[in-house]
Amino acid sequence: MGKHSPPTSNMHPVVGDRYVLAVGDTATARLVDEVYGLATRQSISDAGLQPGMRVADLGCGTGILTRWLAEQAGSTGEVVGLDASGKQLSVAGAMQGSVGSAKLTFREGSVYETGLPRGSFDMVCCRFLLCHLLRPLDALQEMRALLRPGGALVCQDMDLLSLINEPANCACRRSVELSLALADIRGVDYCFGARLEDSAREAGFEALQATAEQPWFLRGEGKRLWEYTFLEAAPAMVDADLVRQREVDQLAAELASAAKHENTLLATWMMFGVSGRKRV
Ligand SMILES: C[S@@+](CC[C@H](N)C(=O)[O-])C[C@H]1O[C@@H](n2cnc3c(N)ncnc32)[C@H](O)[C@@H]1O
Repeated sequence: MGKHSPPTSNMHPVVGDRYVLAVGDTATARLVDEVYGLATRQSISDAGLQPGMRVADLGCGTGILTRWLAEQAGSTGEVVGLDASGKQLSVAGAMQGSVGSAKLTFREGSVYETGLPRGSFDMVCCRFLLCHLLRPLDALQEMRALLRPGGALVCQDMDLLSLINEPANCACRRSVELSLALADIRGVDYCFGARLEDSAREAGFEALQATAEQPWFLRGEGKRLWEYTFLEAAPAMVDADLVRQREVDQLAAELASAAKHENTLLATWMMFGVSGRKRV
């Protein structure tokens, strides 16, 4: 993996998955990391990330987490971020110079067949990837194949049903219902986080440790994370005839208004996490 290699295109086409959220440098991607980033970094550190390690970040998006991994792995380590979206990777690639890491590479490819060297990574991470996949178990098995014996897996994912708005807000409930209906149509599971530990066990990982993190807000930008995420997925809902654009606009206005009132609480979706090891 060379220094500052550009993303390679069309290496491994994504089989079947059609990702619905926005790609590129969006405020939502940054907000996700502001809201969940501390918990993610803590879990990865707890799983044993050390300087000198070889790490893969699958479904790395614009590489916010990948760059942190590269800082931790340091100049003697090696980090690769892989994503199916060239647009995400062009943002990741443009920013990678700022890390100052000698061995950070981004690659375009599918998590099912990464084309990365088998049995060679000390750690494989993924955050908010598996809930978008038609075959999350196949992806976990590919992750296991990439790890050396004793290597660590760290996965984190969402459970959309856990989102709480207090006092209950109809727009919040309806937007979650629409998102779950879209997931059903697409054959993916926005509540996959709740199945993460069982799935990691089924994929053959051992020494499993589970975590859960549900940030909540009375004010501030984090309180709008669900609204922004819903709006990114809304065009796919309209395309699927689940909802008309007019209702989407009404829901967006109601969600924005609820976010402004400091007497309402929004707990964003629970992020479940699992770490585990490949048998030595
Ligand atoms: C919600 S984003 C998460 C990005 C990043 N992991 C983070 O937490 O900031 C999910 C990412 O998974 C990528 N993705 C979706 N399906 C994929 C697949 N089959 N193979 C590789 N990447 C995929 C998308 O392009 C998107 O960048």
